[in-house]
Amino acid sequence: MSQAPLPKRRTAPDIRARKGGEPIVALTSYHAHTATIADKYVDFLLVGDSLGMVMHGFESTLPVPLDLMIMHGRAVMRGAKASLVVVDMPFGSYEESPEQAFRNAARVVKETECGAIKLEGGRRMGETIRFLTERGIPVMAHVGLTPQSINVLGSFKAQGRERAQWAAIEEDARIVEEAGAFSVVLEAVAEPLAQKITKQVSIPTIGIGASAQCDGQILVMEDMLGLSPRIAKFVKEFGKVGAAIENAIAMYADDVKHRRFPDAAHTYSVKD
Ligand code: KIV
Repeated sequence: MSQAPLPKRRTAPDIRARKGGEPIVALTSYHAHTATIADKYVDFLLVGDSLGMVMHGFESTLPVPLDLMIMHGRAVMRGAKASLVVVDMPFGSYEESPEQAFRNAARVVKETECGAIKLEGGRRMGETIRFLTERGIPVMAHVGLTPQSINVLGSFKAQGRERAQWAAIEEDARIVEEAGAFSVVLEAVAEPLAQKITKQVSIPTIGIGASAQCDGQILVMEDMLGLSPRIAKFVKEFGKVGAAIENAIAMYADDVKHRRFPDAAHTYSVKD
């Protein structure tokens, strides 16, 4: 029996080729069923290490282990068939050396079958990005606010709001481009700097809190759905899913307490 062919899954070069064209749409995803829904609308899905905060209740992304990223990466790959799936390298899994980064990134690619990985850092990651891409692993870089550096930064604050900070962030973006990254996330970067970097580099910039000047946008799905208790200034809530969940649970609890649930429609009778 013949089956309809599956849609071709987007690749890192497909995303790279979108520089300067129609804006690239991306979301984070940690879960097979929401990945299936988002797959109809996005160009790529990021299994971000923010899952530690939005799904597992950690205060930062630092405690997230590699095995957890792989488990969620596999779920998203099962749910999404057309989007490129990018998996984040968690803190401690790639910073030590290019060899450590390759060993762990290769595990991510083999065990999830994702199409690319993402790592945080600009100039300090140039050598590692080159090492990975030369060995067959497409890399999305991440500069500006890098949440894995929270203990050095002190807080999740916007970057480049003072012009004196611009040169370092521009250099970060240029170095990851030269090292072979296929795109770069700009997080919490002031608009004029995001615009300048987007013009300077030949790879797509993906903004999160970095204005509409970027080549694409990404948000954390739970944040834009209205499911996260705390959100950054740059997040727009496109839904009220947290309120919908609470409403449904309150109705369920009330029905159980008043013996309205389960009713006849949700109860098995005996077949006589
Ligand atoms: O982990 C994550 O959600 C991310 C986005 C902020 C891009 O890295």
